[in-house]
Amino acid sequence: MSWKTAGNLMNRSRIAESLSITKRLTILYAISAFILLAISAIILDWILVSDMEFEDNQFLASEIQGIRLLLHEHPRDTGTWKKVIERETIASASVYLKYYVRILDEKGVSLVETPGMSEVLAKTSFPLYGNSREPGVKGVKLKAADGRPFLVMASLAEPGPAGTEDKYIQIALDMSHEDAIIHGYRRKMFIILIAGVFFSAMIGFLVAREGLRPLKDIARSVQTIGADRLHERVASKRWPREVMTLARSFDAMLERLENSFIGLSRFSADLAHELRTPINNLRGEAEVALYKAREASEYRQVIESSLEEYGRLSRMIENLLFLARAESRDTTIRYSAINARKDIDALLEFYDAISQEKQINVTCSGEAVLKADPVLFRQALSNVLSNAFQYTPENGAIEIEIAQRDDGSVHISISDTGIGIEPENLSKIFNRFFRTERAKNYYPEGTGLGFSIVQSIMDLHGGSVSIESEPDRGTTVVFVFNKPKDISSITVL
Ligand SMILES: Nc1ncnc2c1ncn2[C@@H]1O[C@H](COP(=O)(O)OP(=O)(O)OP(=O)(O)O)[C@@H](O)[C@H]1O
Ligand SMILES: [Mg+2]
Repeated sequence: MSWKTAGNLMNRSRIAESLSITKRLTILYAISAFILLAISAIILDWILVSDMEFEDNQFLASEIQGIRLLLHEHPRDTGTWKKVIERETIASASVYLKYYVRILDEKGVSLVETPGMSEVLAKTSFPLYGNSREPGVKGVKLKAADGRPFLVMASLAEPGPAGTEDKYIQIALDMSHEDAIIHGYRRKMFIILIAGVFFSAMIGFLVAREGLRPLKDIARSVQTIGADRLHERVASKRWPREVMTLARSFDAMLERLENSFIGLSRFSADLAHELRTPINNLRGEAEVALYKAREASEYRQVIESSLEEYGRLSRMIENLLFLARAESRDTTIRYSAINARKDIDALLEFYDAISQEKQINVTCSGEAVLKADPVLFRQALSNVLSNAFQYTPENGAIEIEIAQRDDGSVHISISDTGIGIEPENLSKIFNRFFRTERAKNYYPEGTGLGFSIVQSIMDLHGGSVSIESEPDRGTTVVFVFNKPKDISSITVL
């Protein structure tokens, strides 16, 4: 394709894109009306012309028949022929019916003819129809010397009595009037065609505008919905069925947006609340410390306790950053095949000190290979493990079970014999900043973000995490990593 044709095509498609639906429908209406009217006009024209031709041919054939009868009854009486022919073709001629007749002898000499016929139609311009004695069924169209259109027919007369020569009959019908009728008809048809196209375009425009009105209305309804009116819905109004689908999809989107908005504002409210308490504590401590002159050891104590708060705050900020990154669209996961047992054993080494201090019996069983991001996998497991250690009193137990299922999924469960969670709080565990009152006493440094992180890590992996718990008996958290698609191509760490 040359660059010029490519350019033309691009221009054309750009024009098509920019055309409104109303304009497109108007054009389509006009084109369809044009095609329909043009086809009807052509068919009607053909019917009219062929009907007229049929009538004319019938007329000429019957006239020839009449002249034959005349020649038969008066075989030698040219005077009678002349009288009859003049009466028929001149006296009874009118604007609507004008025809000429000529009778020739065997040698082609004109015996009788309508006066003035030779000036318009020479005898040689007629077809002879061989030697047929039957009048032709179809005349021949030709133009006379003065430009008038004629339909002509010729025939041999019936043989006369013995001794008489054969005669030829020539007959010509003036078609000027019929031609004028056809021309007039065609002119009117053309006007009807143009008017028809124009009116169809107008109707098309009105129909399209009316038909598309619901779209405009829905656009207007949608325009009124801002961030402060996300609770409003579009589908509550009565819409035509086609627009209803659009309205419902739009409402579904509004619902999602509203939920995100609510989540976001609840989150910022929680965040403000979570930050306010430690900052107020820090401020209060600093104010009290500065209230009067103090010993160096007292200052040291204040700074030490402040450091704990700072540590908690910076952990909270790190966790929030992690969540923000995990939820952003461009988070990429670097999948590797992980030997779950090896990873968990390595992780448990970190908790050696605390398990010995609290006399917690830790057991781990089972083996499995799974596909996950190693850093995120460790983070998820250590969040749950640290909860188990934090919320399990001395002399408790923690049990880890790794199982590779037949369907290829890997289940890792971490159970503890800790303080447990009340049933009414179980569903809130994954909410950001949520902490049970008992947990706050047990482990005041917690931020309430650990489980939110676990959940978003599992979402990123397309896996799941569930929790079961009974107050004072313990808690079990189960991770499910689904069957990896292509584990053979991944190296086991
Ligand atoms: N093993 C468990 N036993 C009892 N309660 C638990 C256990 N794990 C979680 N919880 C409850 O769930 C809450 C949320 O846990 P999550 O790990 O999200 O936050 P956190 O442990 O309080 O703080 P951090 O963000 O520092 O982990 C905890 O505060 C606690 O009330
Ligand atoms: Mg935790």
